[in-house]
Amino acid sequence: MTALQRPWLNKQLPLEERVETLLSAMTLEEKIGQMWQVHDPKDQHDQNVREGRIGSFLNVPRDQLARLQRIAVEESRLGVPIVAGRDVIHGYRTLFPIPLGQAASFNPETVRLGAKIAAREASAAGIHWTFAPMVDISRDPRWGRIAESLGEDPVLASRLGVAMVEGFQGDDPAAPDSIAACVKHYVGYGAAEGGRDYNTALIPESELRNVYLPPFRACAEAGALSFMSAFNDLNGVPTSGNPHTIRNILKTEWNYPGMVVSDWCSITEMINHGYACDEAEAAQRSIAAGVDLEMVSESYRNHAAGLLRAGKLRQEWIDDAARRVLRMKFVLGLFDNPYPAPATPEIFLCEPHLQAARRAATESCVLLKNNGALPLSPSGLKRVAIIGPLANAGADQVGCWAMDARGEDSQTPLAALRQSLPSTVVLDYSPGVPSSRSVDTTGFAEAIAQARAADVVLLFLGEEALLSGEAHSRAFLTLPGSQQQLLEAIAATGKTVVLVIMAGRPLVLTPVLPHASAVLYAWHPGTMGGPALADLLLGKESPSGKLPVSFPVMEGQIPAYYNKRNTGRPPSDESRGLPQGTPLDPVGFSANYIDGDHLPLFPFGFGLSYTRFEYQNLTLKSSDVRAGGVIEASIELRNAGSMPATETVQLYVRDLFASLTRPVRELKDFQRVTLAPGETRVVAFKLPAEQLAFYDNEAKRHLEAGDFKLWIGGDSRCTNEAAFRLLA
Ligand code: GLC
Repeated sequence: MTALQRPWLNKQLPLEERVETLLSAMTLEEKIGQMWQVHDPKDQHDQNVREGRIGSFLNVPRDQLARLQRIAVEESRLGVPIVAGRDVIHGYRTLFPIPLGQAASFNPETVRLGAKIAAREASAAGIHWTFAPMVDISRDPRWGRIAESLGEDPVLASRLGVAMVEGFQGDDPAAPDSIAACVKHYVGYGAAEGGRDYNTALIPESELRNVYLPPFRACAEAGALSFMSAFNDLNGVPTSGNPHTIRNILKTEWNYPGMVVSDWCSITEMINHGYACDEAEAAQRSIAAGVDLEMVSESYRNHAAGLLRAGKLRQEWIDDAARRVLRMKFVLGLFDNPYPAPATPEIFLCEPHLQAARRAATESCVLLKNNGALPLSPSGLKRVAIIGPLANAGADQVGCWAMDARGEDSQTPLAALRQSLPSTVVLDYSPGVPSSRSVDTTGFAEAIAQARAADVVLLFLGEEALLSGEAHSRAFLTLPGSQQQLLEAIAATGKTVVLVIMAGRPLVLTPVLPHASAVLYAWHPGTMGGPALADLLLGKESPSGKLPVSFPVMEGQIPAYYNKRNTGRPPSDESRGLPQGTPLDPVGFSANYIDGDHLPLFPFGFGLSYTRFEYQNLTLKSSDVRAGGVIEASIELRNAGSMPATETVQLYVRDLFASLTRPVRELKDFQRVTLAPGETRVVAFKLPAEQLAFYDNEAKRHLEAGDFKLWIGGDSRCTNEAAFRLLA
């Protein structure tokens, strides 16, 4: 066909005209072809591509994609290009901290840059589209995919999810170094019962709208080009066949113009769910619900045309699906530049990318305990023991969803400390245990001997990468393997132990704390985790990370998230440790455990630094605010220590009385503030009253007059409190 016969190739035409002109030229089979995404291209797919029966590939090597693209563009009837996707979740070759670690930075600028660098490297590999950001609110550390989430809070996940969308897509998604974002997993996946992946999620409409949907809506409004439906069923309706969440809320209520891709075979898995009796019914339910592109399974390819002819599908649904896939391809510029730019391998792991990853890792680490052991004073050290299975584990320190990372590219803590410590300092190293899960204790003797000879022990413990991520949920959250025993054996030498933990989730640290003078939580810090940790341990930088998720005292506390409701009998400790024979009377009958604490070990938003931040003079401009108005609050923050440091100042509110029970605290805003030693600064917030609104179980939005409390401080338990009233 000539260019004249392909008017949609005219760049001067408006986008929607290009889409509609092409759509109107397509046959039913070609439209359905746009609704299929294939993995592992084999030769037989060449003919499918030639006949316009495949719209997308995922995980296709660059050279194979170039060949398939040439067939699609030059040998198919309409020349519709392929869009190629891949999971570039926290970096391509330069790995940033896992998203949960990035969330601990509370820094949208850092997160945005990480996504931009991921896009630069991924697009250089021929990838058009990444399946990220993952913005599932995650309150359960047993769930393996908490590692790739942005934590338990809707405001934090919204801000950072938007930053990732902006980083991936840039100002122009058609730019050669931009890639399409895909907001996932829509919706409620993180509420999997028992923290077991793929499990049922039972979420009332109000909780769905007040907690789980906001990050998705924020990313939709930020222009994310696609969404991904999820594996879980939501209140009994699988999310990949759920008309309420997709066609009603996303596509109608939010008027979202982007494309919805299923998760891997999540459409045909509705047969396992018991929601479809066969592939034909699965296809019917998903197309009717608004899933535009089927990832890997073939129910659309095999049944959509027959379902349409049988009157079980509307033509408009198929047109809408194909339209949205085509629209994304036009916006990505694939019709104008379908072939990848010449390879630029020098961009992978280039110095600016490595330095950005180092900054992200530095900002992501959270100091949980410090009895003064940190920062180390190199001048006072003669011998240092570096011990643990994660001290020199390049492949593990990058964490889950790092498909294109190479272990040898990682700069480990051992290597970084060797470079950073003065040559006069003797370094001893031993893993102590072969791997994080190993119960082989034969390495203890060497480790203990090294500890005895050292001035200080730097212990690197935690989880190997395999222990978090998809389908890797854990029922026990203490240190795996024999690591606790190793820690206690090293501590028994009496030497100062500085513990660095790498993990893909909050671990239960209760047994760990008594045996370490300092605990620095590094998550899985990525390619540059070593240099970042060396900078922090040696005091070149002060830790500034804050917890994006609560850390439970024990597994029994789960879920331990901070923004809970108060209940009719708020937890108290009166009934803790009742003496035997205590008569059963209503003393201490409250929402607590009789055998354990009800408060998390470390709360959401918590993190120490090498200085001391002092808060005073919390001030409200007015104690009354009307709908449409703004609550103006400020506080004085002082760096009372001797090191420059950064504090994330957090603002929380509580709606004391409402037509629906409301959380005891909700994060509404945060600011990162860097202060020199002795410096004081007034930190001001402007909170629109509209952000006090909430949804009820009929999906009705309420902004109710009444009394509120407000706190500003360094974590979700801060006590600097004020009160205000929302007037009718
Ligand atoms: C996986 C994941 C999803 C990922 C997709 C493609 O099963 O659930 O997050 O993007 O398949 O790899």
